[in-house]
Amino acid sequence: MASEASVGQGHFIFDGCDTVELAKEYGTPLYVVSETAIRERLREVRLSFLEKYPGSYAVYASKAFQTLEMCRIVQSEGLGLDVVSGGELFAAQRSGFPLDRVIFHGNSKTPSELRMAVELGVGRVVVDNLDELAELDRVSLEFGRRTKILFRITPGVDSHTHEFVSTGRIDSKFGIPLDRRVRDSYVGAALSMRGIELLGFHFHVGSQLLENESHLKAVEIAISFMAEVKKAYGFETAELNLGGGFGVRYTDADKPKGLAYFTDEMMAAVTEGCRSLGLALPRIGIEPGRWIVGEAGITLYTVGSVKEIPYVRTYVGIDGGLPDNPRPALYGARHEACIANKYACEPSRRVTIAGKCCESGDILIRDIDLPEMEAGDILAVFTTGAYNHSMASNYNRLPRPAVVMTSKGKTRLSVRRETFEDLVAREL
Ligand SMILES: Cc1ncc(COP(=O)(O)O)c(C=O)c1O
Repeated sequence: MASEASVGQGHFIFDGCDTVELAKEYGTPLYVVSETAIRERLREVRLSFLEKYPGSYAVYASKAFQTLEMCRIVQSEGLGLDVVSGGELFAAQRSGFPLDRVIFHGNSKTPSELRMAVELGVGRVVVDNLDELAELDRVSLEFGRRTKILFRITPGVDSHTHEFVSTGRIDSKFGIPLDRRVRDSYVGAALSMRGIELLGFHFHVGSQLLENESHLKAVEIAISFMAEVKKAYGFETAELNLGGGFGVRYTDADKPKGLAYFTDEMMAAVTEGCRSLGLALPRIGIEPGRWIVGEAGITLYTVGSVKEIPYVRTYVGIDGGLPDNPRPALYGARHEACIANKYACEPSRRVTIAGKCCESGDILIRDIDLPEMEAGDILAVFTTGAYNHSMASNYNRLPRPAVVMTSKGKTRLSVRRETFEDLVAREL
């Protein structure tokens, strides 16, 4: 939740804005994203990482929440951008983002996406497999370029997060395991290619991590891999990207410790590891996504019904759900919420918030204590800034919500609501 959330006339105030008025003005469901909170986080990246560790870089992981406006905010605060598809790259370009500050990711990039990346001159391509490496070399030579790459490695760390957001294990669709045979086929091949300039390695151990142990373990493994590669090929790693994954607060049970808790300890581990193995200190990068935008966003819904099943539970039906926030159905994710127009009222009833889709699994929040509710109330669900708008679908032909940006009491429409016409616009 944005740090400036407060009570005003019994209404929930978010970043200086009355959320009941926002629902009235822009309709629901509505994504409300605080520019104030996003800029606070981006500045924290600058102060506690970029300025503290000269030569380091940070890219914002667009997959968490990407709009043209978000790209421009990120650019204005001096970070780069991580994109993972032609669509995200296109949006970065359309927003005017300097493409040499873009890192192109993905475990299954298509030949046309690789072509686009080379043609637009992205700063780095993070290569995931040998087919991609060969295609990238071919396209780069065709354009007379040498594309700078990092290899995505899987350090074999089992991060303590949901299976679907755990990415650093050996049995993962992402990245390259650090087996010697594999090492030789990748590093050996890249060093012999004229269209490829290998700079180093990248890992991302998982998402929504609240402890730094997986990150630190991965640093240790990556550094010893760098030493092996140096011994075998004389290749000194110039760049090491430590990924993202820094957790945020969804419920009271989550106790996020801040960015420096991860980055300071990882930087110390990199420095010490390189010193003890006689390696030159590489340039270090990070890629936070959720940590930048997660708590900066809320979603507003209108309550349509309150249905009590005696001795079982009370279902509160809302005008959105799974299509605008698939996280609870996908990961069993938990969110907290309030009734925006009864913010001063005490919780008095345990209810289950049900989305409007034809799926029994479309339950937004199971068993939450809220004040007495009725049709027409406005429900505000917290920490929806990351992986909501970017993961939204049109299931059941629900138009995707608008995005309103707030900034200390000011609001502006950033993405308009989809219309029924939009829903059929591609159909012939
Ligand atoms: C390669 C890579 N970098 C960065 C991120 C951002 O992760 P988070 O939003 O948890 O910081 C992801 C998320 O999946 C990723 O796959």
